[in-house]
Amino acid sequence: MKRRMVVVSNRLPVVINQDSQGEWQIQPGAGGLVTAMTPVIKANHGVWVGWPGCEDSAPICSLLEQFVEKEGYSLAEVPLSEEDIDKYYHGFSNETLWPLFHDMLGNCRFNRDHFESYKTVNQKFAERTAKVCLPDDFVWIQDYQLIMTGRYLRQLGLTQRLAFFLHIPFPEADLFRRLPWKDEILQSFLAYDLIGFQTSRDHRNFVRCLMSFVPGIKVVNRHRTHTILSNGERSFRVGHYPISIDFEDFSSRAMTEEVDDAAWYLHEHFEKRQILLGIDRLDYTKGIPERFLAFERALDKYPELKGKISLLQIVVPSRTMVPDYIDLKSQLEQLAGHINGRFSVDSWVPLRYHYRSLDPIQLLAHYRTAEIALVTPLRDGMNLVAKEYCACSVDNIGVLILSEFAGAIDQLGKDALRVNPYDVEATADTIYRAFCMPEAERRKRMTNLRAQIKRFDVHRWTKSFISSVG
Ligand code: UDP
Ligand code: G6P
Repeated sequence: MKRRMVVVSNRLPVVINQDSQGEWQIQPGAGGLVTAMTPVIKANHGVWVGWPGCEDSAPICSLLEQFVEKEGYSLAEVPLSEEDIDKYYHGFSNETLWPLFHDMLGNCRFNRDHFESYKTVNQKFAERTAKVCLPDDFVWIQDYQLIMTGRYLRQLGLTQRLAFFLHIPFPEADLFRRLPWKDEILQSFLAYDLIGFQTSRDHRNFVRCLMSFVPGIKVVNRHRTHTILSNGERSFRVGHYPISIDFEDFSSRAMTEEVDDAAWYLHEHFEKRQILLGIDRLDYTKGIPERFLAFERALDKYPELKGKISLLQIVVPSRTMVPDYIDLKSQLEQLAGHINGRFSVDSWVPLRYHYRSLDPIQLLAHYRTAEIALVTPLRDGMNLVAKEYCACSVDNIGVLILSEFAGAIDQLGKDALRVNPYDVEATADTIYRAFCMPEAERRKRMTNLRAQIKRFDVHRWTKSFISSVG
């Protein structure tokens, strides 16, 4: 793209921490978004605006300067106070929009004060962005934490092309209307030239919400992957662009000797058993308790699984100040204890549960060596773990069990084993089916999955989104 790109996201794409000598360090962060944006933003010397997410004592300015010199693009920080973090981040973003957009009304808290803080912080992001923007830039705002930033940018007089991408699902109109501030949120979307979603369902839900709740909106044109709408003054585009991963990078790293050794070593702990792998952030959207119950049911229903399979569940700590996340953590510990209490014998622990993150080598080793991945969210925007697992399944014998409520089902549903995670009985049956699946069928399915992800990788995603902006 010729235009310079300004990316705006809640978190900056960096990890800032102190080494063992107490020296501050800054490194590029991991994750899908960083991989997707880095080549483009580097090529046109763009800017990334966001919250550094580190302690106040860090020497932010000099660390950011170091980063620019090394990485070739700039970072602009938006500092957040403790109160902002409490009300905007934990509060409105993660106790209101996150559960509402994932169809989990029971987890939603509606608090006017939190919404006010959300607006104030979105305004801060807009002010910081406006300061770094040049007249011909393209500004790309990311995710549910910053929906209103575009509106404030327009109020500050910006006329540049503005785009927004929602990484999480968008709910149906009947659910969205429960949000007391639905009109303000929907109106804010009208500031953008392009609004992107993960799936056709999210795209359709959003267009229906606009048509139902915003007066004067008209559909100008409908296409398979996008809709052109107008509010009478200007037209804008809404489309679905399923995000992906850097297939080549995952696949080639999974084949290195280091990962191969780590994978072998990991599997030795499980002797000749099949590993059923779950890797998720601690989140009630990921369906982890339901997954544990399905595993328990499988052990009851199919006694031949006993001693022959282990569920290895990695739970990455996340949003540890939000009450529903704290409750989920204790629920998981109890369930894991209950299942192991029922089935463990001296030579076999059925469920290995770890509450921690993995370093990149270990993450790839887990993906590479597990015979089955159990990816069963109750609702998920995309779910990159499902795609990463396939990319690292370089021996072509992994089986992917995938929830029909993950965005990734649209691309992977044909060759994954599809489950409704609320259906404990059917998920138990599917675990058994995966366990028994003959090698030829495993190979065929995994070869197809890998080909799909390779073809539609994250670089294609970025190009297709950017070329839609015009
Ligand atoms: N991940 C990680 N460290 C870990 C485990 C997972 O960085 O110890 C990454 C994983 O590689 C994936 C991301 O976390 O890219 C999870 O993305 P996903 O879309 O599956 O779910 P999200 O957490 O964004 O809801
Ligand atoms: C999801 C969201 C991202 C978010 C990430 C981690 O992937 O779509 O916007 O950054 O979870 O959550 P956190 O609250 O730690 O940023």
